Amino acid sequence: MPFFCSAFYFFHLMRIIIQRKNSFFVRQLLFLLSRKNTTPTFMNDKSFNKTKPVLTIRVPATSANLGAGFDCIGIALNLWNTFELYVVPEQKEYISIDSYGEAADGLPKDHTNTIARVLFEELDETFGQKAPAPLKIVCHNNIPCGSGLGSSSTAVIAGLVFAHALARRALTATNVDSLKRAVLSRAVEIEGHGDNVVPALFGGLVVVTRSTSGRLLTHRIPIRQQRIVVCVPDFVFPTLKARAILPPALPRSDAIHNIGHAVMTIEALRTGDLKLLSKALDDKMHEPYRFPAIPGAIEARQAALDNGAVASCLSGAGPGILSFVENNHEQVGEAMKASFTEAGLNTRYWILNVNDTGTEIILG
Ligand code: HSE
Repeated sequence: MPFFCSAFYFFHLMRIIIQRKNSFFVRQLLFLLSRKNTTPTFMNDKSFNKTKPVLTIRVPATSANLGAGFDCIGIALNLWNTFELYVVPEQKEYISIDSYGEAADGLPKDHTNTIARVLFEELDETFGQKAPAPLKIVCHNNIPCGSGLGSSSTAVIAGLVFAHALARRALTATNVDSLKRAVLSRAVEIEGHGDNVVPALFGGLVVVTRSTSGRLLTHRIPIRQQRIVVCVPDFVFPTLKARAILPPALPRSDAIHNIGHAVMTIEALRTGDLKLLSKALDDKMHEPYRFPAIPGAIEARQAALDNGAVASCLSGAGPGILSFVENNHEQVGEAMKASFTEAGLNTRYWILNVNDTGTEIILG
């Protein structure tokens, strides 16, 4: 009889563990049971120092769409979120997160943080592994959240890169590039917007689409460096909402308009032809629906052009606005800011270059 009771409780416990394998308590339990089995080589190294990060990654901001390139064109900008991964053997929780900078107070400090969630899911589902030891992630965020500058892509990329680095155990400078390639399709699948994820990983101007069979196709186009002013109002405009306001279908004439303008945008940036760029940034697929939903945005775009910007468009799904500017960058930034301020919104702007490197991974 005692045997049957124990067996009953054992199977009951196993069922709960399997059903709730993603809950905090079960993860913590599995972590405690498995912590001795999978030690990455960098922790056995004599130089391992728990006060230094084992890995640091910097992920750039991105601006998706660039007018007519809806869901297909994205560009990386030199504004960064930096994430440090520490292995902290004496820490009680299996994960802790410290955030500094943008939205630091509002970001979860535990396993519910996007970086942690992606890290553990990837370790579990792709590698069948648990974290080798308690982890701490320190985030230095410079990219404003919910601004149309790809901040959520940076968190997804960080979680995936950390998972792959931990699973591979041995990291060297030579496999950093293959690590970026290895996380590409998972990052697009999890984040959902290839036009943010791909430039964030590889830098530059990127075209992203899918083959008829669903295979991810990406192509990076070398471009002339550009000076860009991005203006971000303090306005909540979630991407889900910004997509929900778009009509489900387009007139053929609008689709034709966008194909022509998207191609011209690429050619203008490739050759540095600003006159062409000024005509190319004109969209009929998403901007006519999104601009009116953001207070002050129509006026801000006009103010940018009136103050000498070459061309101006929504950054991603907004609410940020991106302007290509040759001269008087501050003047253009201030003009856009004044329009949003008049609409009652606190606003900031950044003067940025195009980033060429994409995600940077620094060992040790
Ligand atoms: N292409 C996407 C959109 C980007 O405009 O909805 C979302 O960040």
